[in-house]
Amino acid sequence: MPLTDTVHSALGTTDRPPRRLLVTGGAGFIGSNFVHYWCDRYPQDRLVVLDALTYAGNRNNLAGLEQQARIRFVHGNISDRPLLNRLLNTESIDTIAHFAAESHVDRSILEPDAFVQTNVVGTFTLLEAFRHHWQRRGQPAGDRFLHVSTDEVYGSLEPTDPPFTESTPYAPNSPYSASKAGGDHLVRAYHHTYHLPTLIGHSSNNYGPYHFPEKLIPLLCVNILLGKPLPIYGDGQQVRDWLHVSDHCSALDALIHRGQPGQTYNIGSNHEVKNIDLVYQICDLMNELAPTLSVAPCQQLITFVRDRPGHDRRYATDSNKLKTQVGWSPAYTLESGLRQTIQWYLDHPHWWIPLLSPTYQQYYAKLYGE
Ligand code: NAD
Ligand code: TYD
Repeated sequence: MPLTDTVHSALGTTDRPPRRLLVTGGAGFIGSNFVHYWCDRYPQDRLVVLDALTYAGNRNNLAGLEQQARIRFVHGNISDRPLLNRLLNTESIDTIAHFAAESHVDRSILEPDAFVQTNVVGTFTLLEAFRHHWQRRGQPAGDRFLHVSTDEVYGSLEPTDPPFTESTPYAPNSPYSASKAGGDHLVRAYHHTYHLPTLIGHSSNNYGPYHFPEKLIPLLCVNILLGKPLPIYGDGQQVRDWLHVSDHCSALDALIHRGQPGQTYNIGSNHEVKNIDLVYQICDLMNELAPTLSVAPCQQLITFVRDRPGHDRRYATDSNKLKTQVGWSPAYTLESGLRQTIQWYLDHPHWWIPLLSPTYQQYYAKLYGE
């Protein structure tokens, strides 16, 4: 008797036919972690990675994988419809894992255009291409379009509000979250109108390896190692719910295999923490893990700076639906996840140094004796 997907997932095995995935944004932070995760777990599957290689895309994130015959990297844009048509057809894609996006709130405040173009128009172009492809192939029931979205579409919580659930009304506050909400609405409409087998995951803030050092946690790791100030926006009392990226990947795996098409699922690990407390925790861990490299005590580097305009005060995510209906739970605590992440930044200066300005590259080359 064939085993269920749940049992296979627990055993790390499968007897299902191979999937053929198109992973958009697979050279970015979460997308590349997903590609690593999927390759480890499902060696029989085909993965086509489509990425425009913006400042946030980095082929080094896929080092060691691209040589494998079952992985193909395509440098291209999700708004390029002829390219999408070609890829979907020639590769017989049955599953889309859609990560490609402009993802940084601060950049969306300065230059929102690219956010609307990629997160709304790009998502629409991908949906249209996949809809036609799926219809031409006779609407296979096992196909999936997974939109990797954010909990930021729900807006900001007051300190005593309950966490966001899937029925919390949308109230996006930044151009980033508004553009992600626009993409979500299109995905929802494609399920309602065309019955496209869609899924939406609303994840909380991620952290982990391959995180571009403009977001809070990798910025702190890199700045501590460089002895640069640790900029804290406003009073540092904002709250975020941090999820290790590998727990996000296992949640997306669970959604692709066991999620109900047309449904949305929140993904968080219930690790709410104030920014300033997170900064102190990272400083303590860095002092412990790298006593000689870091500027000790690195708490001295904390610098309060002007607040982000329209800064959301608190995010918190209720993932009960995912846990009870799909059978997912996170593996990392905040402490174990931060340890793993900080150690990764300590062990991989060759990954992040090239992302810094030339002055810091020289400084760091000296520090590492190169
Ligand atoms: P990222 O910025 O690190 O990576 C985005 C990737 O998309 C990059 O490789 C970039 O080159 C690619 N890309 C951008 N525009 C493209 C286009 N037009 N065509 C093709 N590729 C394009 O982002 P991330 O942090 O990995 O986030 C991935 C997804 O997860 C996004 O959709 C984001 O909204 C969502 N998300 C992120 C977080 C988080 O904490 N980082 C939390 C919740 C949801
Ligand atoms: P960020 O990593 O940009 O994620 P998001 O804005 O999507 O939540 O920021 C996380 C929190 O950290 C957010 O409250 C803004 C704050 N922050 C700082 O205080 N200083 C910084 O330099 C950055 C990048 C963020």
